[in-house]
Amino acid sequence: MDNPLRILHLEDDPLDRDLVAESLTEGGFSCKMRHVDTRESFLKAIEEEEFDIILADYSLPAFDGLAALEIARKKRPEVPFIFVSGTTGEDPAIEALTSGATDYVLKQKLSRLVSALRRAVMESKNRKDVAARETALNNVLHRLQLQVRFMPLACVVWNPDYSIREWNPAAGTIFGWSEAEAFGKDIRKLIVPPEERESRSILFDQILGEDIDGRTVSVNCTKSGKNITCEWFRTHLKDESGNLAGVLSMANDITERIRLENQLQTAQRMESVGTLAGGIAHDFNNALTGIIGYAELLRMRLAGDPKALADLDEISRAAERAATLTRQLLTFARRQVLEPVNLDLRNVVNDLMRFFVKVAGEQIEVKTSLAADTPTIRADRGQIEQILMNLIVNARDAMASGGQLSVETGGVILEDDYIREHQYMKNGRYALLVVSDTGIGMDEATRGRVFEPFFTTKGPHKGTGLGLSVVFGIVKQHDGFINLYSEPGKGSSFRIYFPAIEAAPDVRIGARPEPAPGGSETILLAEDEEPIRMLAERILKEIGYTVLTARNGEEAIEVFRRHQEAISLAVLDVVMPRMSGKAVFETIRKINPLLKVIFMSGYTADAIHQSFVLPTGVPYLSKPFGPVSLARKVREVLDGK
Ligand SMILES: Nc1ncnc2c1ncn2[C@@H]1O[C@H](COP(=O)(O)OP(=O)(O)OP(=O)(O)O)[C@@H](O)[C@H]1O
Ligand SMILES: [Mg+2]
Repeated sequence: MDNPLRILHLEDDPLDRDLVAESLTEGGFSCKMRHVDTRESFLKAIEEEEFDIILADYSLPAFDGLAALEIARKKRPEVPFIFVSGTTGEDPAIEALTSGATDYVLKQKLSRLVSALRRAVMESKNRKDVAARETALNNVLHRLQLQVRFMPLACVVWNPDYSIREWNPAAGTIFGWSEAEAFGKDIRKLIVPPEERESRSILFDQILGEDIDGRTVSVNCTKSGKNITCEWFRTHLKDESGNLAGVLSMANDITERIRLENQLQTAQRMESVGTLAGGIAHDFNNALTGIIGYAELLRMRLAGDPKALADLDEISRAAERAATLTRQLLTFARRQVLEPVNLDLRNVVNDLMRFFVKVAGEQIEVKTSLAADTPTIRADRGQIEQILMNLIVNARDAMASGGQLSVETGGVILEDDYIREHQYMKNGRYALLVVSDTGIGMDEATRGRVFEPFFTTKGPHKGTGLGLSVVFGIVKQHDGFINLYSEPGKGSSFRIYFPAIEAAPDVRIGARPEPAPGGSETILLAEDEEPIRMLAERILKEIGYTVLTARNGEEAIEVFRRHQEAISLAVLDVVMPRMSGKAVFETIRKINPLLKVIFMSGYTADAIHQSFVLPTGVPYLSKPFGPVSLARKVREVLDGK
C-alpha cells in the first residue's frame, strides 16, 4: 500500500474540513491531513513539512486563497495546488487557474474532488519522474564534463570566428596560456608559430569547412615561444538545427615522443649504414693488401727502371689512399681490432694538444681543462688520438676566421633521469671528453647526418665526410656514447662518454727499438685469402725465413703437429674458415705454451657488433700491411721485444 497522501488543507470551517476528509476516504485515499487557517500557520506548515498536495479554500476570514497560491508557487512549485471553494462563478476559477492553480473544485460538487486529486497526484508523479531523470542525466553530463576538462589532453573549443570559448587546464599546461588569457583570443594567433600563421590559416578554414580529416600533426608554439609538435583530434559542435556552432579540438604534446623516435631511427640508420660500409670495406681491404704488397715486390724487381718505378709509385700512392679510406670505414663499422690499455684521457689530450697548438695558428685560442677526477678508461690509445684529431680538425675548419677551441675531460655519473631522455645511453660512471668550438655551428639537418660516412658540407676535394664516422665507430666500439650540441652561428660541442673503470692507468712504454730485417726461423702462416697468404709467404721467404702455409684453421693445426719442433712463430689470420685464428692459437698453445704468435687482421667479420678484442699484449698486424711492417713485426716478436 502507498504511503498516506500528505495533504496541507487551508480551511477555517471545521465542517468543510470533515467533508473534504470524508470524501477523500470514500474515494479510496489514505490521507494524512494538516489543517491551517491563517497566513502564519500556512507558511509555517509549508516550511516545516513536505506535502504531496495542497488544498485551499478560496476566501477565508483571516487569509485568502490566492495569496496562499502565490506563496505555494514560490516555495513549493512542484506541489499540486487545488482550490476547494464555496465561491461560485467563473471569475474566481479563471483567476485561480491562470495564477497557477492545478484545479478548482466547488464545495457544492465535492464529488469531483477525488478525480481532480487523482489526476493531480498522477501528473505530479510524472513530473517528478521526469525531473529525477533529468537530474540523473545532468549529473552524468556534469561528471563527463569534468572528466573531459581534466583529462591530460588539451581541450579547446573555438567559435567559427576562431575565438576561443573553452580552454582546459591541460591546454594551459601544454601551451602556457592560462584559461583567462586564452579566452576570446583568436586560436590561430595564440598557438601557431608566427612564421607559419599565414599558411596555417588555410588549415583552420578547412577545419571549419569540414573538408579535413579528424587527425593532424602540426607544429605549435607556446607562450614562451617554444615550438612543440602536437597531435590534434577534432570534432564539430552543431546546434539543434545542425549548424556549426564551434569546433572541439583536442591536442597531445608529442614533441618528446617524436624526439625519441628520431633518436631510435638515427641509431637504426647508423647500424644499417655501418653493416653496409663494413661489408664493402672488408672485401676492399683484402684486395688492397694484394695490390700494395705485389706493388712492393715489383719494386725490388724494377730497381733499374726509373720510369717503371715512377708508375709504380702512383699505383702505391693510390692504393694507400684507398687503404686509408677503407681503414676509416672499417673503424666506422666497428671492425677495428682494439689494443685496449688502462688509459688516462688527460694524458692523451695533453700530448696531442702540445702538437696541435703549433698548427692551430694565432687566430685560434686553445683552452684545455682536465679535471682531476677524470676516471681511467679501458681504451685503445691510437683510436682515442684519432677521435681527438678528427674533432679538432673539424673545429679548426669551422673557425676559419678564428675563435676558441676548448678540450675538457672530467668524470660524470649518469642517473636514471638522464637515461630516460637519452634512451640509447646506459647509466653508470663515465669519463667525459668534451671538444667545443665557437665556429659556424650546424643546423638541424646537418646535425642529423654528421655521423654518416661520406656526409660532408666541405665541397669536393676538401673533406671525405669520414671524420665523424670514424669518431662514431670508435666511440661505439669502446661502449661509449656521443652527443652533439650545436646551433648555426653558435659553435658546436661534442660530448663523448667512455665507461669508467676502477684501475690505475698503465705506465707507457717508450719508443720501439729498430727491428732486424730478416731471419732464418721457421714460420707457420695461416691465411685463407690466397693473395694475402702468397704475398706474406713471398715477403718472408725473401728475407730468409722458412714458411709453412695453411689455408684454414684446421690445416694450420695439422701443419703445426707435423712440424712442431721446427716452428718458432705462428702468423695467424683472425678470421678463417673451419677454425678461427684465436681457436688455432689456443689449441697450439696447449701443445707448446711458449710458441710465439702474431695475429693478422683489420676487422672482425664473425660478428659485426662484437669487437674481437685481443688479449692484452698479443701482437697483431693490421691489414693492409706492407713488407716492411710485416718483417719488422716478425723480427720483433721472435726477439721477444
Ligand atoms: N665543429 C664543427 N662545426 C661545424 N660543422 C661541423 C663541425 N664538425 C663537423 N661539422 C659538419 O659535419 C660534416 C661532417 O664532418 P666529418 O668530419 O665527418 O667530415 P668532413 O670534416 O667534412 O670531412 P673529413 O673529416 O673526412 O675530412 C662537416 O662537413 C661539417 O658540415
Ligand atoms: Mg672532419
